[in-house]
Amino acid sequence: MDSMVTCIAPVNIAVIKYWGKRDEKLILPLNDSVSGTLSTDQMHAKTTVMRCKDFTEDKIWLNGKEVSFSNPRLLSCMKEIRRLSRESGTSEDIVNTKVHICSENNFPTAAGLASSAAGYACLVFALKELFGVKQDITRVARLGSGSACRSIYGGFVRWHKGDLADGSDSIATQIAPPSHWPLHVFILVVNDKQKKIGSTPGMQRTALTSELVQYRIKESVPKRIEDIIQAVKERNFDKFAEITMKDSNQFHAVCLDTYPPNIYMNDISHEITSFVHTYNELFPKPKVAYTFDAGPNACIYLEEESVPDFAATLQYIFPPEETLESYFKGESVQFGTVNEGLRTYPQQSPGLLKYIIHTKIGDGPKRLDSSEDHLLTLSGVPV
Ligand code: DP6
Repeated sequence: MDSMVTCIAPVNIAVIKYWGKRDEKLILPLNDSVSGTLSTDQMHAKTTVMRCKDFTEDKIWLNGKEVSFSNPRLLSCMKEIRRLSRESGTSEDIVNTKVHICSENNFPTAAGLASSAAGYACLVFALKELFGVKQDITRVARLGSGSACRSIYGGFVRWHKGDLADGSDSIATQIAPPSHWPLHVFILVVNDKQKKIGSTPGMQRTALTSELVQYRIKESVPKRIEDIIQAVKERNFDKFAEITMKDSNQFHAVCLDTYPPNIYMNDISHEITSFVHTYNELFPKPKVAYTFDAGPNACIYLEEESVPDFAATLQYIFPPEETLESYFKGESVQFGTVNEGLRTYPQQSPGLLKYIIHTKIGDGPKRLDSSEDHLLTLSGVPV
């Protein structure tokens, strides 16, 4: 064994969505996007990378199973890391050594959460450490999955679409660290069995067929990006909430404008939307914001002070099938009081939500130093 590195990396949830590419191979987006990085305490990808002169080929295991290394996105990340490593002055011997990679998520892929973003961010971050890369690696993570470039930083992050054809200016930068505004997040995992079209083919279809997406990228997004960055800097929650919800709605409108349409939200998602608006109307300014990715699950952003009463009202309107303890996962929740204004709101039948993950804005990827954390043995096979 020459060297072994293990890292964890976070999930991120966009508040201004990335949807549509101008270059499929380099994964260059049509518009800038902004996201919040979620704490690795609740959800993360974990990856061990190892280089050894005795290895004869690059190998990868995902969630315990060996898979082919011939995935073009994986190959393009590896190639770019080796190129940057050479540029950083790492010796040719090391650059050309074969690697073994073992990666897993601590959250169910079936929950429809952005597992590829955390996975590629983790892989690229770990490889950077292994090969002594000194340059920006958000560009490399982007080659694995567009949204992965935003998981390289904690807090609030912007992915600049860039203008250059080679993608060298399509990078992610941090807007603010987690300590600036540690918003809380509830992920409402919705019961749903329907198979949805994946992000990659879904956005391809949008770029080819939607007229609305043109309006979105030219008119809506540039202004929203500036406004939401200002809202984050000022910790202006009501402004942040309004932009977040409007952008999620427009993203799904663009999906419906795609031909044939990409339908991601279901009846339960629409119930959540209407519940959130009713809840917000009880206050002078919005208290919670929903956003939906390419699936039916809702991600709710809220300030810490809003957590107890919102959690109590949420479980009252969307009751669990079983116990309250197993309904809320992640960070513990102190339940407040059910808002009186919602006592007359129709209570939903139990079990529409599978469970709720309580988390918050957190840090970017980190290296784990203890040898017990490694997912590979010293001979380079999964533990
Ligand atoms: C709806 O990053 O998964 O979550 O670049 O093709 O791998 P590829 O797509 P991906 O798309 C994410 C889309 C989204 C919005 C977002 O995260 O900005």
